[in-house]
Amino acid sequence: MADQPIGIFDSGVGGLTVANAICKLLPHENTVYFGDTTHLPYGDKSSEAVKAFSLRIADFLIEKNCKMIVIACNTASAAAYNALNLHIQNKALLINVIDPMVNYLEQTHAQQRIGIIATKGTIGSKVYERKLHERHISEVKSLATPLLVHLIEEGFSGHPGCQLLVNEYLSNPALNEIEVLVLACTHYPIIKNLIEEYYEGRTSVLDSTIITAKATQAALANAQLLNNSSTPGLHQFYVSDYTPAFETIAHLFYGDKIKLEQSKIWKSE
Ligand code: DGL
Repeated sequence: MADQPIGIFDSGVGGLTVANAICKLLPHENTVYFGDTTHLPYGDKSSEAVKAFSLRIADFLIEKNCKMIVIACNTASAAAYNALNLHIQNKALLINVIDPMVNYLEQTHAQQRIGIIATKGTIGSKVYERKLHERHISEVKSLATPLLVHLIEEGFSGHPGCQLLVNEYLSNPALNEIEVLVLACTHYPIIKNLIEEYYEGRTSVLDSTIITAKATQAALANAQLLNNSSTPGLHQFYVSDYTPAFETIAHLFYGDKIKLEQSKIWKSE
């Protein structure tokens, strides 16, 4: 049914960048957000662990009656998309953040030298290289930049140390001569200004927020599940472990109107 919510998940606040873009593009959609703060960061965990977390979260979102699940996390998209597809079958639509970006790169940046920054899990999976090579795009360089997620989750994105770390990572020779940089972690749009400041316009910086929101819109339209109601959507936010930093960042995106709920989906741990 069209008025069922869209479920969106990530390890923490990063997926809020995608959720926010979805809410702006589709203001009548209801959403349920799940931040798995108990297991953050996903990028340092094994792909088996991330897969297991993702399957349980998908069950939670289906229990919440979601018509679609958006994996608003590159690390979980890399580790768990295929398993989630099998697991949820026709109970909900499923999209990840990687395929919309790969489609976009193929359409708009195929002739350019592409750089990817992401978590250790995403870079280790080589998922971007593989999918881009399938589209005959081979000039791809990548670098794991794991410390950025910690700074963002701790609310340090405005601290001068964060710019220093960004500069240190981006000056790594692994990213030499790139013409476009993909922020392949949904946390990174929160510090996109620092990344753009480093490049001073020499390199375009892409993130998956609007691209994924458009893919969400297209998938819902295709399944005739777009919510055509005239009232603004309702948004629910769950975390597996309450952290003040999550609440602060969620308020930055959604204002004071959000109510954060703790969900004990990992009761047996
Ligand atoms: N935001 C996530 C991603 O896009 C995960 C960050 C983490 O938990 O390591 O990969």
